[in-house]
Amino acid sequence: MQLPAHGANAAALYKAMNVKMPEQVIDVSENVNYLGLPKQVEEEWPNLFVKIAGYPDEQAEPFRSKAAEFHKVAVQHVVVTNGAAECLMALAQYFKGKDIALLQPTFSEYARTLKQQDCVIHSILAEDFCHYRFNNELLEKQLKQVHACYICNPNNPTGVLLKKHWIEQLIKKFPHCNFVVDEAFMDWTDESESVVSLVNTYPNLIVVRSMTKMYALAGIRLGYVIGQNAEKLRNYLPHWNVSAIANEIGCLCLHDKDFVMESRKTSSKLRSQMVADLQLLGCKVSDSAANFLLFQLQEQYNPDEMFKYLLERGIVLRHTRNYAGLDGKWFRIAVKSEEIWIKCKDELTNYVKNH
Ligand SMILES: Cc1ncc(COP(=O)(O)O)c(C=O)c1O
Repeated sequence: MQLPAHGANAAALYKAMNVKMPEQVIDVSENVNYLGLPKQVEEEWPNLFVKIAGYPDEQAEPFRSKAAEFHKVAVQHVVVTNGAAECLMALAQYFKGKDIALLQPTFSEYARTLKQQDCVIHSILAEDFCHYRFNNELLEKQLKQVHACYICNPNNPTGVLLKKHWIEQLIKKFPHCNFVVDEAFMDWTDESESVVSLVNTYPNLIVVRSMTKMYALAGIRLGYVIGQNAEKLRNYLPHWNVSAIANEIGCLCLHDKDFVMESRKTSSKLRSQMVADLQLLGCKVSDSAANFLLFQLQEQYNPDEMFKYLLERGIVLRHTRNYAGLDGKWFRIAVKSEEIWIKCKDELTNYVKNH
């Protein structure tokens, strides 16, 4: 049975699972900010209408400069993309046919886009999913042989935040290897482990950022890449790849510190509650720093059965069948609202009690 490769696809998932979709569904399979857009986007929305008719700026200015200013990097080191997803497509073309290491389990789009470009994937599996820890000896052995290594930080699907110091050591030790550090969820943390500040020092570092998670812009599409060699990716991007609307909205969002602080605060409070509740149910739970977490029920329970049980009751978890090493035995759940969590927890508790 082929399930949708990503979250936020409830109708297709119900169809693939052959389960009747209830009228009311709680979708905790996707990780977009539950608070929605910053309010100034809604206020400005009528003024954005006039932007539809004209072509957008080909360098995505002024958003590009705002992003550079935000991260304190040179403008020429920033390339804006139609969501981070477009950046991943361009990177795969840039690395065409090369050997690439992936720290697994991780976002499935890396392998998908790289395989399309005939890259050879070297998967390095975490020894411990809850803490996303790796055997350094094995990792370094692989890094000697590859042209690039993708690291997702905080990691999707575990939410674990790797240390900047640990990543820097690898970047420094393997200068022949390009390190792609995907920080799509970094704005859910205090940014202290972000490697953006290392871009000026290391030409083999490429940082990917997304605006779609924190600012709930998944439908608008906006992301960017930061690196000394970022400009090279332009060869693989369409000319007007970022819409004028996305550009304007990105500028409105990027400096809204209050919105980001509020989102982080509410999400981390609820996440702690979710971890405690899941542990009480006997689950293994990842040490997440993001707005989602990964969990596994105790071994006596059948994960497929539980997934279906919840779907029948209108709760859509993110399956992990396309995450290396997890093979559907773990589930990712988004941190949304307390009300949503209570509904999920009650159904999970019912399942555990009755099976
Ligand atoms: C780790 C990671 N990177 C990148 C992306 C793509 O983000 P965007 O919506 O900006 O294309 C996602 C989307 O789920 C993701 O989880």
